[in-house]
Amino acid sequence: MAKLFLIFISLTVLTLSSSNAAIYKGQREFIKKCLKCHNDGQNFIAKYKMKQWKKLTKAKGKPLAELHLKNKKAKKSWKYFKSGRYIKKSKHLRQFLVEYAKDSGNVPACN
Ligand code: HEC
Repeated sequence: MAKLFLIFISLTVLTLSSSNAAIYKGQREFIKKCLKCHNDGQNFIAKYKMKQWKKLTKAKGKPLAELHLKNKKAKKSWKYFKSGRYIKKSKHLRQFLVEYAKDSGNVPACN
């Protein structure tokens, strides 16, 4: 019984730390890739609610990419949003953005 409990605890710790790692990776990606245009970082993320970020970042971030690809003002981001890197990182970005959305109650230490 005690053994089972230990296994349970270590599994919980594992899942918790891996989701933190994803949030951290998403944050790094945001700082590297989004902040240069959206330089009001924390306020920018808090502009949207969790549901809205989820919607923007669903399907490997496709809606967010399309929004930029349609907008000439965002031209400098086109290469990134078309890249495999973006697709790969989109799930981390998603976790990060949702984690710090307006209604999440969390505040990132971005700057
Ligand atoms: C090259 C500059 C550039 C980069 C890089 C960039 N964006 Fe944008 N983004 C824009 C522009 C320009 C708009 C359109 C804003 C407007 O029309 O006022 C926009 C719009 C948006 C919008 C919706 C409109 C708004 O302002 O709320 C979201 C959400 C967004 N970007 C998120 C991101 C995220 C997340 C990243 C990083 C993965 C990112 N952007 C990277 C330039 C950029």
